[in-house]
Amino acid sequence: MTEKIDRAVIQKVIKSVPMLSASANQLLQTTTDPDHDLREIVHIVKTDATLTARVLKVVNSAAFGLINEITSLDRAISYLGERLIVGIAIGDCASQLFDKELKGYEGEHGDLWRHDLRTAIASREVVAQSDLDISPDLAFTAGLLHDIGKALISDYLQGTAGEVLEKIENDEISDYLSAEEELIGFDHPRAGYELALTWKLPEAIAEVIRFHHTPAEAREEFQELVYAVHLGDNIAMMGGCGTGADSMRYKLDADYSRYITLQPNALASIMLTVNEEFVKLERSFAEAGDSNR
Ligand SMILES: [Fe+2]
Ligand SMILES: [Fe+2]
Repeated sequence: MTEKIDRAVIQKVIKSVPMLSASANQLLQTTTDPDHDLREIVHIVKTDATLTARVLKVVNSAAFGLINEITSLDRAISYLGERLIVGIAIGDCASQLFDKELKGYEGEHGDLWRHDLRTAIASREVVAQSDLDISPDLAFTAGLLHDIGKALISDYLQGTAGEVLEKIENDEISDYLSAEEELIGFDHPRAGYELALTWKLPEAIAEVIRFHHTPAEAREEFQELVYAVHLGDNIAMMGGCGTGADSMRYKLDADYSRYITLQPNALASIMLTVNEEFVKLERSFAEAGDSNR
């Protein structure tokens, strides 16, 4: 028997996780603004010694195979690109959540981070390969954070996966989202949205977290981005990288084709890019000292 939870319970869980650092927050705000430039990113990273050290460590990790060491922060940032800088900053602050073993989904240690990273790469590729007028880097960041709510509710779902899968199989429940709602009274997009509000994440990212499984419900101004991450999430799951029992147990909203036009072979090429980039990024993060990932 599961315990029903409400907003107050989620708020309590959120209080137990660290806040985003000031630099991670500034990076998120700045990179969401379409008029920003790279100098602003450099300035923010420079104010944070730990982040500066991490960025230099990542760029000089063997995964990037540079012959000469990069010692200048400006060069490191332009080499890695802003999405990776944001990724490093968020990954460091939110490691407690990303690294959580999702027992409620029967996921393994590191599954959430791996799925989020693959979704981030896939979402960016979806934007890059279609004619959407949004930033591929923003799609990457939103993809990285889309499922963060799972880390908040997973403990309350423990021991339910078998029953949920059976009910979905027998058409008693339509998908995993409804199962979360039915079992504990709170689904992971809503939980993640509560965190987005507490962390004061940019509206575009909060909207993605809230509606990544139900993109038609997102506000019109954010729908392209939400659909891009919705598709990126499904591509990550199709590639066999979900977060456990719930993988592929969500509905794909085919209306994405109203916003996103992809060439016939684009899906296969996106999946290939996701695999290649993922191996490289995961290695670079691991070599830069994050043993959990
Ligand atoms: Fe999700
Ligand atoms: Fe997901």
